Amino acid sequence: MDSNTASLGPAVVFGTSGAIGRALAARLAISGVYSSVWGGSRSEPVDVPPGVIPFRFDPADEASLSAISASLPAPPALVLVATGLLHDPARGIAPEKSWKALDGGAMAEVFAANTIAPALIAKHMLPLLPRDRRAVFAVLSARVGSIGDNRLGGWHSYRASKAALNMLVRNFAIELRRSHPQALAVALHPGTVDSRLSAPFQRGVAAGKLFSPDQSAGYLLSVLDRLTPEDSGGLYAWDGTCLPE
Ligand SMILES: NC(=O)c1ccc[n+]([C@@H]2O[C@H](COP(=O)([O-])OP(=O)(O)OC[C@H]3O[C@@H](n4cnc5c(N)ncnc54)[C@H](OP(=O)(O)O)[C@@H]3O)[C@@H](O)[C@H]2O)c1
Repeated sequence: MDSNTASLGPAVVFGTSGAIGRALAARLAISGVYSSVWGGSRSEPVDVPPGVIPFRFDPADEASLSAISASLPAPPALVLVATGLLHDPARGIAPEKSWKALDGGAMAEVFAANTIAPALIAKHMLPLLPRDRRAVFAVLSARVGSIGDNRLGGWHSYRASKAALNMLVRNFAIELRRSHPQALAVALHPGTVDSRLSAPFQRGVAAGKLFSPDQSAGYLLSVLDRLTPEDSGGLYAWDGTCLPE
């Protein structure tokens, strides 16, 4: 971590029951840069990394977002949103190869996790960012949500929900700049990371390109350290590349 982020406010991670969210919270706690590190999950927190203060939230229940807003002891220097959904066979959710596979219910679930959850978290967290110093709001998006980068098609709901998320982040960045000129709102692509989300799709991944959650978390935090307010609104990959939205 460089001095850019040594602002000592709290860091808050939403989605710490997930692989990347947990790894991000663990790294932030080890870094010692933030006054406290908070890790939120929908389910009862288990296997909480040392130094992380667990909390429960459910984006479908805005009162839970108000509650965590009110619990933070100081304006957050960093807010990370690591929620997301690609597949859930138990609920009949799978990435669609064709428009023939589209199902309204499954699509709504994917948008709820990938687009609406981060949007509502932003609604409650962006106003808390400090106005007089650097602060970062970052969401985990995905390269496949880039419209400009889409050459393969497929995965309709996931791609569209992440594209919508990228648009929201751009909108939030524009709105945020007016009141918080030193703050950033960005979307991140973590690479292909070994997790529940990617498990069924890891076969074609080139050797060395399947990151551990901790490896990806390290890359993402380094990228965030290097971004400036001029970069706000963009979609950045794990290696710092700015991707087309
Ligand atoms: N892994 C990859 O290769 C990869 C690649 C590109 C982008 N990403 C993105 O990175 C992020 C993290 O993914 P991951 O690999 O760490 O996946 P993961 O281990 O499956 O974690 C997903 C997290 O999202 C939460 N979640 C799912 N649906 C939710 C909802 N409706 N409301 C609130 N929380 C919800 C889960 O909570 P529960 O435990 O309560 O379900 C869990 O904490 C996602 O946004 C994903 O799209 C991942």
